[in-house]
Amino acid sequence: MIERHDVIVVGGGGAGLRAAIEAHDRGADVAIVSLAYPSRSHTVAAEGGISAALREDDSWEVHAWDTVKGSDFLADQDAVELMIRLAPKTLRELDHWGAAYNRAEDGRLAQRPFGGMSYPRTAYIADHTGHALLHTLYEQAIARGIPIYDEVNISKIVTLDGSIVGVVGLNVKTGEVVGFSAKAVIFATGGMGQIYQITTNAYFNTGYGMAVAYWAGVPLKDVEFFQFHPTGLYDSGILITEGARGEGGILVNGLGERFMKKYAPDKMELAPRDLVSRSILMEIREGRGAGPEKKYVLLDLTHLGEDKINKRLPQVRFLSKTFVGVDPVEEPIPVIPTAHYYMGGIDVDKFTRTNLRGFFAAGECTSVSVHGANRLGSNSLLDIVVFGRIAGIMAAEYVKKHDIREGGSEVEKAIKEFDKKIEDLLNKEGKEDVFKLKQELKDTMQEHLHAFRTEESMKMGLDKVRNLKERFKNIELKSKKVTYDLELLNALHLEGMLDLAEAMFVAAINRRESRGAHYREDYPKRDDENFLKHTIVTYRGFDKEPELSYKPVKITRWVPIERKY
Ligand code: FUM
Repeated sequence: MIERHDVIVVGGGGAGLRAAIEAHDRGADVAIVSLAYPSRSHTVAAEGGISAALREDDSWEVHAWDTVKGSDFLADQDAVELMIRLAPKTLRELDHWGAAYNRAEDGRLAQRPFGGMSYPRTAYIADHTGHALLHTLYEQAIARGIPIYDEVNISKIVTLDGSIVGVVGLNVKTGEVVGFSAKAVIFATGGMGQIYQITTNAYFNTGYGMAVAYWAGVPLKDVEFFQFHPTGLYDSGILITEGARGEGGILVNGLGERFMKKYAPDKMELAPRDLVSRSILMEIREGRGAGPEKKYVLLDLTHLGEDKINKRLPQVRFLSKTFVGVDPVEEPIPVIPTAHYYMGGIDVDKFTRTNLRGFFAAGECTSVSVHGANRLGSNSLLDIVVFGRIAGIMAAEYVKKHDIREGGSEVEKAIKEFDKKIEDLLNKEGKEDVFKLKQELKDTMQEHLHAFRTEESMKMGLDKVRNLKERFKNIELKSKKVTYDLELLNALHLEGMLDLAEAMFVAAINRRESRGAHYREDYPKRDDENFLKHTIVTYRGFDKEPELSYKPVKITRWVPIERKY
């Protein structure tokens, strides 16, 4: 089966919805293809808010500076400037579309402090901002009648004469391999936290969209940079929003000490995430953790009072009571750092363009780069809406301006090939179990490519990933069916996760410095002379090491300085 549209958006989260809305409003026939129902996408995990300089005593320049400094100077400053300048307009548009922001007494949007921001500029909707904004965007897409093909797992990019002409994947509901012929495609497929054992991310946030792009010859950028959010519930990693610290929550170790004063005396708990996560892990590593086994620290909100917690942080209370049996009104919450956000991703410029004609990408699956080596909390909701919209503009204009050959027969061919791949996978005999391999990969990443890294440990991790790749060739699926088949979907995604993991290790081993979330114990200093540059990885085949190259960071007005908080 082939569906035909001018523009196909792959991914129904915040970036995908915003892209589709814009492409539609600019006259394109656009459809969304998504593995998850849009309203269940992972945008909900940006709980604490969305940033913009909205007040007279704040400014876009300070917001941009905070972002560039937070990125440890790896962000491209022209892209940061674009995003931050568009922020106020972006928040207002969502307001006019019905997002029910919390209000200050003067009726303007209420804003709370967030990590690494030198002004309280995070607008919020209690502690379910991402959820509320996602629904606002979903309503706008529904109101426009934008078709949504749900539960379709896109696995292949189809090209003709160097341009994208469609995508192919599996309809999870029917088990049918389906194709979409399009003149432009936007990927907004989200992040990859599931590559780690402890994560805030949803089940299918495996980075699959990035892998699909990578396999099609689209390079990935800055793949070594993964963000660990300081406060995941112990030990599931479920997100406890940074908004909790923004509202005044404090972190204490097992000795009852407010330990952040040692690591970030000015910003304390509201230092950027890379710094706070490392500080927590250091406390635990040095034996000052809390609990019977000293494996976590405590997030104390008890001084905020029940009324404030109920009004501003109701979800924190619910999650904490439900998953660890702790009522934060009465006692502190046990927390640990948790894999939350990927700064790496599909290499796009600030106009969301990739190296493949007609192929655009936005949101967490990309590296623009506006977050560089470390993203500031509440800049991601901003990123997805700003760059989602830009991707919609770019795709709609591209379709208008270019006379693109219809690629239906190429899509047909790709459907047949992918059908064969599925059949081969289902019929293959072997002795390896997909779920076991996936678990081993997650354990490997958790152990060897976490917040603290060394060459020796990363090399061990890379060897383990390569061994898993060999074993992956020998998998056998037990279920032998194609509808709603988690085993089959996991097999497809695991192939991507293994390639991405290898690229992450190779890039991380080669970045012999510490910058943002990439902290090398064997190279603890930032080295601007040799590493003020983006890593680019290009795919060369499942059995070959990725090609590694570098490109310069765009520095426009903010000169790198030592990063202190
Ligand atoms: O902690 C949080 O609410 C997460 C927000 C974000 O990642 O931007």
